[in-house]
Amino acid sequence: HFPELILSGIQPTGSPHIGNFLGALSKWVSLQRTAHDSVTLLYPIVDLHALTIPRDPEQLKKSKIETAIVLLACGIDPARSYIFEQSRIPAHTELAWLFNCITPMGWLSRMTQWKLKLKTNSQFSEDEVLSFSGLCLGLFSYPVLQAADILLYKATHVPIGDDQVQHLELTRDIAQMFNKMYHQNVFPLPLSITTSAKRIMSLYDPSKKMSKSDPENTRINLSDPPTIIAEKIKKSTSDSLKYITYDPETRPAIANLVTIYATMQGITIDQVVAEHGKSDIKTFKDALTQVLVEKLSPIQEEIQRLRLEQGYVQQVLKNGAEKASMIAENNLDEIRSIVGL
Ligand code: ADP
Ligand code: NA
Repeated sequence: HFPELILSGIQPTGSPHIGNFLGALSKWVSLQRTAHDSVTLLYPIVDLHALTIPRDPEQLKKSKIETAIVLLACGIDPARSYIFEQSRIPAHTELAWLFNCITPMGWLSRMTQWKLKLKTNSQFSEDEVLSFSGLCLGLFSYPVLQAADILLYKATHVPIGDDQVQHLELTRDIAQMFNKMYHQNVFPLPLSITTSAKRIMSLYDPSKKMSKSDPENTRINLSDPPTIIAEKIKKSTSDSLKYITYDPETRPAIANLVTIYATMQGITIDQVVAEHGKSDIKTFKDALTQVLVEKLSPIQEEIQRLRLEQGYVQQVLKNGAEKASMIAENNLDEIRSIVGL
């Protein structure tokens, strides 16, 4: 009985990259055509999540505007989809607290992202890591804030990259726990919508996903000019074989480049291998660079244009926050009353 509502977030922690685009943003854009008019589309820029590691305040402010600009440049239509800053809606943190109070810590310690964070400090014991390494409580509990981001709006569908699937399962578990606890069907159990790209890996270390949190040379930003794209692809990890195959197990770096080629071009992996199987790696990398430059160029023109329209971008964020706030406040009133506040 829940009306369809689609929500997904992006962190303003740097310039959005092709992993964000192929895993999530391209879906956000296509939903504007494919979702029924009655479906609400919400895309928060999740600035509270950015604070789980220390940030320069001025840089964070700039990244928020840049993220909004990139979303608009990718084709997000502010008349159809609402972009807003998460922190403008205090209800996110209030609901996160309520969820903090019912979420078992064991659920959070099983999160892969958390375990990876602990492991990067593996020369220490877990206790040492927790006390000295700067891992804060927020880094442990942010999946609970994510659950609040989603459930505050009673979102029914969440378009996300493959890296977020486990966190969405946690969101469903929290929703179910709350519903059971208060004997009411307060929250829907939101479903994920994933794209065919699933997960784009780092250009440097193909065992890690491409991420804004990693160094520049590991990712292609949507705003990278052609010379930078060419340089990053040229320097990307490859191997010494003289032909192109798709084999994620034995040739993960090449498989990642093939995936990027296929999804940017909107063709299948098999088509790429059929076309480029006999190419050497340098030739294939040149072809990939060309595809990236070509596909990103209209987005980049829009980015350039919008960077000169900061007033407009601010207005888009303000309108988005007003729309989101109406839904959030209404739902939070109901939730407060249910828990006895
Ligand atoms: P990042 O890790 O780069 O900061 P975010 O946490 O802001 O990315 O994620 C924004 C969206 O992009 C999410 O839906 C996430 O699943 C998706 N995403 C992020 N990185 C990748 C990737 N490497 N491949 C596919 N999708 C990704
Ligand atoms: Na992420």
